[in-house]
Amino acid sequence: MTAKLVIHADLPKSKINKNIYGHFAEHLGRCIYEGLWVGEDSPIPNTDGIRNDVIEALKKLDIPVLRWPGGCFADEYHWKDGIGPREGRKRMVNTHWGGVVENNHFGTHEFFRLCELLECEPYICGNVGSGTVQEMSEWVEYMTFDGESPMADWRRENGREQPWKLKYFGVGNENWGCGGNMRPEYYADLYRRYQTYSRNYGDNRLYKIAGGANVDDYNWTEVLMREAGRFMDGLSLHSYTIPGSWEEKRQALGFDEAEWFETMQKSLHMDELITRHSAIMDQYDPEKRVGLIIDEWGTWFLSEPGTNPGFLYQQNTLRDALVAGIHLNIFQNHSSRVQMANIAQMVNVLQALVLTEGDKLLLTPTYHVFEMYKVHQDNELLDVAFESPQYTSGGVAISQLSVSASRDGEGKIYVSICNLSHEDGATLSFGIGGAAPTRVTGRILTHTELGAHNTFQTPDKVAPSVYEAAALEDGLLNCVLPPASVVVLTLE
Ligand code: AHR
Repeated sequence: MTAKLVIHADLPKSKINKNIYGHFAEHLGRCIYEGLWVGEDSPIPNTDGIRNDVIEALKKLDIPVLRWPGGCFADEYHWKDGIGPREGRKRMVNTHWGGVVENNHFGTHEFFRLCELLECEPYICGNVGSGTVQEMSEWVEYMTFDGESPMADWRRENGREQPWKLKYFGVGNENWGCGGNMRPEYYADLYRRYQTYSRNYGDNRLYKIAGGANVDDYNWTEVLMREAGRFMDGLSLHSYTIPGSWEEKRQALGFDEAEWFETMQKSLHMDELITRHSAIMDQYDPEKRVGLIIDEWGTWFLSEPGTNPGFLYQQNTLRDALVAGIHLNIFQNHSSRVQMANIAQMVNVLQALVLTEGDKLLLTPTYHVFEMYKVHQDNELLDVAFESPQYTSGGVAISQLSVSASRDGEGKIYVSICNLSHEDGATLSFGIGGAAPTRVTGRILTHTELGAHNTFQTPDKVAPSVYEAAALEDGLLNCVLPPASVVVLTLE
């Protein structure tokens, strides 16, 4: 059966904030240390301690924004431990993640250098759970104040004359859990207090993000919007894709078709979460001034056998590519409210884009989806009307297709399509309202093995290729997708 869709180029919707393509790097496992930071004396080629191969790979994604230092780590992080001469920095225990020693060699200055190398905006998450108001206030002063002050002078002593530009600032992380086990009423008050002293110095304007709900905790969103909505620019939401359950997670590799289906079903759940959290936000903020910031999302499987379970190191298969494509389509389709999303995490942790082993590096299927989808960044979202064929398993039916379309400033239209089915291809026919493209090109990410993944021995097993099964005929765009595939089309 052919699925009929209509792209309404004459019905542009919201702008797709490029920050939907954001990333997250925490002091967790081998994300910061080894994955990004190797130190200036490392034999691994680096720039000011940051590994060149990883930067070179990540730069191709046009990363807009990077969140740091956590995560749960953020609410135990004391920024003053991470500045000044490195040899003298305090060594602490990373209690959340493996109980390993954190030597604080990667701190504020190193993070801003990383953002410079990636040419992305920094997003810093401050410590509400175990830090003081003064500590948070002084961090903002240290980073952004231009005049004479104890913190700005200290920054200069540490080698940075000019303040940095810092827009995105999180006031705590998961304060319902690792960030202090608070009730929403209590956190809403703390948020109001902490953000008061996070000042705008000179022309630096903070975009303040309140710690938001866990998955479907709609009451958290309700209370935060009611009690603190007018003091925030963004409200976060965290939701991971976890086949099995939190207590009984599944392996990243070696899954069966039922687990594939369950993973697709759980990925689609993001649409309902955003719809329902947004509906609550709409009641308090009908103008959509406050952005919904999904600053942690991605797959969460059991750690790879033989690795430290506290390091959350997992492989990444074609299944993760579908999860990424589905989520990015959903974020785009909700871009009137969703202003940022940050995949967890950038390197070596959870749904990573890059994996490293010593001086070796590989790009995961998730990396390739981000690279294929980057054409959507900052475009106009276009309406796509369709009724998806169903994908069924064990008596449960979900959409077989996930689709999103956008138009750039030059009038090119981009369509990203995921075929979720592990066994059925899909034949699609798009009508196009308000545009008459004459040329279609495309790229596809797929494989005949559902568990296909890249290893350090075979790093290109899953990689994008030219897609030739699309054609423009009599004003229609027709295409055929193999099972388990992600396609991005360009119409000119
Ligand atoms: O991304 C891993 C962890 O997941 C983060 O530290 C925390 O915020 C979330 O629970």
